[in-house]
Amino acid sequence: MTKLSGLTSQNSQLVECQACHDMGLIIHGDYATICRCQEVKRMKRLLKRSGISDAFRSKTFESYEANISILREAKKAAMKYAGGFMARGDGHYSIMLLGQPGAGKTHLAIAIANCLLDDFIPVLYTTYGDMVRELKTSQVDYQAFREAAQRYKEIEVLLLDDLFKNAYRQGEVRSTDLDAMFEIVNYRYMKKLPMVISGEHKTEELYRIDEALASRLIEMAAGRIITFDGIDLNYRMKGAVL
Ligand SMILES: Nc1ncnc2c1ncn2[C@@H]1O[C@H](COP(=O)(O)OP(=O)(O)O)[C@@H](O)[C@H]1O
Ligand SMILES: [Mg+2]
Ligand SMILES: [Zn+2]
Repeated sequence: MTKLSGLTSQNSQLVECQACHDMGLIIHGDYATICRCQEVKRMKRLLKRSGISDAFRSKTFESYEANISILREAKKAAMKYAGGFMARGDGHYSIMLLGQPGAGKTHLAIAIANCLLDDFIPVLYTTYGDMVRELKTSQVDYQAFREAAQRYKEIEVLLLDDLFKNAYRQGEVRSTDLDAMFEIVNYRYMKKLPMVISGEHKTEELYRIDEALASRLIEMAAGRIITFDGIDLNYRMKGAVL
């Protein structure tokens, strides 16, 4: 948006968009068109609501180096997912990035989200831990719980990062955590709403943690489950951050 410091009139200093004077419309004689600033505003609102920070906006496909074949395949699959989103049809359309830490799972997941947001598709980023914590702590207040649950249920694309991270207590995942997660996943499963999921546990481990959850997630992402395993490369450990 243009800053209007150089302008003299008192009123126009308060105006954000010179093209439409913040009316959102440009009048051309007897008809009007929607001003471009409305699109920018929509994008800003979408980004704000997405939970994706400015730092995460730099995690793009362009900045994802794919110098070995497994990374090339992963990047290709993630790009295909993002590129095919609009024409996805009415089946399940989720994607999972699973496996070793530092492989760039979150980076690719965010790159997908950034692509979708650029196409004005609403995405909500959350970690599994944050989502489950919010759902559980809001349970004492029915209205707050409903609002939180609705947010995770209804968003067009839910990006769930770090599935089951730090979730183990005494060898298993707490049943209250699984219940909270199931409520969201089952809803999205029934409505065929897409999720982009990252996590260290591979599919066999997911089944071991919770079969009902795992089977839904795996069905939702069938054909789009990318597993990183035994890659001799760890950006985080090499310190090549951002
Ligand atoms: N192939 C890659 N190209 C560029 N940066 C990468 C790549 N893989 C990982 N990174 C960067 O390394 C850091 C760790 O990656 P991240 O996506 O968090 O890994 P994971 O989620 O698999 O643990 C991030 O800053 C990420 O941007
Ligand atoms: Mg990660
Ligand atoms: Zn305008």
